[in-house]
Amino acid sequence: MCGIVGYTGKKEVKDILLNGLKKLEYRGYDSAGVAIEVNGMLVLRRCEGKIANLEKIIHNESIIGTTGIGHTRWATHGRPSEENAHPHTDCKGRIVVVHNGIIENYISLKKRLEKEGHRFRSETDTEVIAHLIEKCMSKAKTKDLLRAVHLAVGYLKGSFAIACISLDDPDTIVAARQFSPLIIGIGKEEHFVASDIPAILEHTRNIISMNDGQIAKLTPKKVDIYDLQMKKVSAQVMNIPWDPVTAEKSGYRHFMLKEIFEQPRTIEETFRGRISLDPAKIFLETMDISTEDIKNIQGIVFIGCGTAYHAGIIGKYIVENEAKIPADVDVASEFRYRDPLVNKNTLVVAISQSGETADTIQAVREARKKGAKAIAICNVIGSSITREVTGVIYTRTGPEIGVASTKAFTAQIVAVYMLALYLGTKKGVIKQQHLSDMINDLLCIPKQIETILKKESLIKVAAHKYFTKKDFLYLGRHYNYPIALEGALKLKEISYIHAEGYPAGEMKHGPIALIDQNMPVVVITTKSSVYEKILSNIEEIKARSGLVIAIANKGDKKLEKIGVDDIFYVPKTSEVLSTILNTVTLQLFAYHVAELLGCDIDQPRNLAKSVVVE
Ligand code: AGP
Repeated sequence: MCGIVGYTGKKEVKDILLNGLKKLEYRGYDSAGVAIEVNGMLVLRRCEGKIANLEKIIHNESIIGTTGIGHTRWATHGRPSEENAHPHTDCKGRIVVVHNGIIENYISLKKRLEKEGHRFRSETDTEVIAHLIEKCMSKAKTKDLLRAVHLAVGYLKGSFAIACISLDDPDTIVAARQFSPLIIGIGKEEHFVASDIPAILEHTRNIISMNDGQIAKLTPKKVDIYDLQMKKVSAQVMNIPWDPVTAEKSGYRHFMLKEIFEQPRTIEETFRGRISLDPAKIFLETMDISTEDIKNIQGIVFIGCGTAYHAGIIGKYIVENEAKIPADVDVASEFRYRDPLVNKNTLVVAISQSGETADTIQAVREARKKGAKAIAICNVIGSSITREVTGVIYTRTGPEIGVASTKAFTAQIVAVYMLALYLGTKKGVIKQQHLSDMINDLLCIPKQIETILKKESLIKVAAHKYFTKKDFLYLGRHYNYPIALEGALKLKEISYIHAEGYPAGEMKHGPIALIDQNMPVVVITTKSSVYEKILSNIEEIKARSGLVIAIANKGDKKLEKIGVDDIFYVPKTSEVLSTILNTVTLQLFAYHVAELLGCDIDQPRNLAKSVVVE
C-alpha cells in the first residue's frame, strides 16, 4: 500500500527521498512522486509506474533543496496516473500533501470546496486535504502550517497519515496520523517522517511512533508533537535494533528468497533468551500477565489475517494440547464485526507481522472494549498493535520486505509454541520432562531447516514439472492443516496459480470432484498422529489419477510403497514443529514455480505488504 517519506535537514533531499521510496517499494504501489522546496519554489515531479520512471525524470535535473516529501501510491480513488499520483497541491501550488489511508467524506468536502472556488486536478480523495489546508490558512488568516493542518484534519473522516510542506513555512514538515501508521526519525540536525521503518533505517535507528490523533511539526532543529487539542505531548524515542543490511537483498534474486534462507537465524533470534534447557524453562515475562491472571484465563482467542491467521490456528491447537485452555481462532475482519463473546477471563492473542493491519487493530480494540486481556505476537517494535495491548512477544526476524510472508510466519509458530508452554507451566499442567523434550526439539529446528535449504535444487527440479499447471490442491491434517492453507496461499500470492488448502479429511466432502490427471495435490505426509489417515487420502487421490507431491520424512517405506509422483524429504521432528520444516519446503516450491513463470515475486500484483485499510 502507499508509502510516505519526508526529510528536513541540511542534506540534499532528492536522493534521500528516492532511496527512501525504493525501500518502500515492497509495500506495493502503482505511481510515485516527490515535492522539494527549492529557493522559495516547490518542485513537483510525479509519474505512473515504478520509482525507476521517476528517477529517469529527475536524474539529470539539478533540484537542490533540503526539505521534501515523497510518496508511492497504491490506487484507491482514481486510476494509477501522473495526475492522481501524490504529492497533491492546493490551488496556488504553495502547499503540498502526501497521504496514506482513505478520506471517507471526501466527496462532500470536495463539493463544498469546489463551490468555494477551489480547482481540483485529480480524482483522488487526498487532494481535498491540500485545499482544506489552503482554506484554513485563509480563514484563520495564518501562514502557520501547523495551525492550518490542525484545523484541516478536523474536517476529515476516515484514516490518514499525512505529511505536508508549505512555501510559507520553509524547512518545516507537518505530519498527522489517524488510523494509519506514521513514524518520525530523529537525526542530528535533521528529521525524517515515514510510513514504515525501512524507508529511513539507513539514516537513523532512533524512532518515534506517532499515535492516532497526533500532529507533529518537524524542522531540522526539533520535533514537536501535539494532541488534537494542540497540547504538546512527550513521545518515547525507541531504538530499532534492525541492521540496515537486513533490508537489502544481499545477492539474492529476491527478498523472498533471502528471507526464506534467513529462517535458521530468525528462528533462533525468536527463541533466544526465552528458553533454557537446564532447568527446562520458558521466559515470557514481557507478556506482563501474572500467574494468577493465567490461572483465571478461561479461553484464548487468536486473531490475525492471512498468514498470521494460519499461525493462529497452530496457536489454538497447541494451547489446547499443552496448556489445556480452550482456544479459538478467528480471522480479524470476522471477529471485529461478529459481536464475539469475550470477557475479562479471555486472553486475546493478536498475531501480526507488521503490527499495522487495520482489521487486526480494530479486532483488538473490540476485544479490549469487552474487557478481554490482549497481547500481541508482532515483528515491528512500537507498531500500532503493540501499543493497543498489555504485552508483546516480538518475533525478532528483522524487516520482512517480500510481500509474501515467510520468516515472520515461522517465527510466529515459534512464538505460539513458547506461549503455550509458558501458559502450561504456569498452570502446572506440563511435566518437566515433557517441557525439556519440547525445548530440545525447538533447539534442533534451525539446523534442520538448513538441511532443507541445502536441497533447494531438488525442489526447483520439481517446480519445473508443475509450473504450467493451472490449479493445485494442498492437503494436511491437524497441525499441518494450517500449513496446507499457508502453502496454497504462498503459491497463489506469488505465482497467481489457483491453489486451495484443505484439511485432508474434508477432501471427500467436495474437492475430490476436482481431481484428475491434471491436478497436482500437495500432501503433507510427515509422521504424526494422523499419518495413516493421510496415507488413505493419498490412495484416494491416486485412485482418481491425481498427481501427488508429498512432503515426508526420509525412509518412509509405506509412502514409497504406495508410490507418489514426487517426494520432498524433511528431517524428523515433533508433529507441531514439523509445521516449520514443511512450511520452508512449501515456500521454496512456491518461489520456484513463480520464478519459472517470471512473476514479480517481491511485489505481486494487487497485493500490499501491510493492509492498513479495511
Ligand atoms: C502473507 O503472505 C500475506 N501477504 C498476508 O496474508 C499477511 O499475512 C496479512 O495481510 C497479515 O499481515 P500482518 O501479519 O502484517 O498483520
